[in-house]
Amino acid sequence: MIKAENITKSYNNGKIEVLKDISLEIKDGEFVVILGPSGSGKSTLMNILSGLEKADEGKLIVNNENLSEKTDKELTQFRKETTAFIFQQYYLLPHLNVENNVKLGASLIGNKDYKEIITSLGIESKLHSMPFELSGGEQQRVCIARALAKKPKILFLDEPTGALDEKTGREVLNYIMEEKKKYGFTMVMVTHNPSISLMAETIIKMNSGRIVETIKNKKQMSAYEIGW
Ligand SMILES: Nc1ncnc2c1ncn2[C@@H]1O[C@H](COP(=O)(O)OP(=O)(O)OP(=O)(O)O)[C@@H](O)[C@H]1O
Ligand SMILES: [Mg+2]
Repeated sequence: MIKAENITKSYNNGKIEVLKDISLEIKDGEFVVILGPSGSGKSTLMNILSGLEKADEGKLIVNNENLSEKTDKELTQFRKETTAFIFQQYYLLPHLNVENNVKLGASLIGNKDYKEIITSLGIESKLHSMPFELSGGEQQRVCIARALAKKPKILFLDEPTGALDEKTGREVLNYIMEEKKKYGFTMVMVTHNPSISLMAETIIKMNSGRIVETIKNKKQMSAYEIGW
C-alpha cells in the first residue's frame, strides 16, 4: 500500500510550490492513473511516491516502509527491491542488445526467467538486436520487459505512450495490462490523456499541485476500447 499524508514539494527555496498538501492511498494491486494538465505536478508526485525524490513535508508510507525518514542510500535500496519505472523516453543502453538490456533489469534481483517475459512481450525475435535497430514501440516493449524482469511490487509509468503513435500506443498499453494481470503488481501511471485514464481503477485528477478529484472508475476499458 502507498499512503501519502499532507505531502508538499517546492523548488528554488520555496519559490516554486509544485505540490500542495497531497494525501492519497493506493491499495496493493490497484491501477491508478494520475491525470492532469502539463505542469500540474504529476511527474513530481510520481517521483516522490516512488522514492526517486524526497518530499519537503508530509508522511509517505510505501509497503510498510516510511520513506519520509529514509536516507538517499536507503531510498536506492528501496527502489531496487520494490519498484520499476517506465518513462516516455526509452533509456535503453545503446551498446547492449535486447537480451542484455533486459538481463540488466533481471540481474538486479537475480531473476533467471527473464526470457519468458521477453517472449510474452512479443520481442523474442529481437533478442540480439541493438536498440537503434528497433521501432519506438519495440523499444518501449524492451523497457517493459526490463522493468518487469525485476519483478517489481509497484510499477511506475510516466507517459509511457507519449512518444508513440495511436496504433503502437494501444499495443503497448495492452501488453502492459496483460503483464499486470499475470503478475498483479500495483501500477501508478502518469498521463495528461483523459482517454487513457479510463483504463484505470482509480483516477486521481491534479491541477496546480493539488488533487482536485479522485474518481473510482466502475468500468475499466481496454486499450482498444478507449478513445485516443
Ligand atoms: N527540478 C525542478 N526545479 C524547478 N522547478 C521544477 C523542477 N521540477 C519540476 N518543476 C516545476 O514543477 C511544476 C510541475 O512539474 P511536473 O514535471 O511535475 O509537471 P507535470 O504535470 O509532470 O507536467 P508534464 O505533463 O508537462 O510532464 C512545473 O511548473 C515545473 O516547471
Ligand atoms: Mg511530467
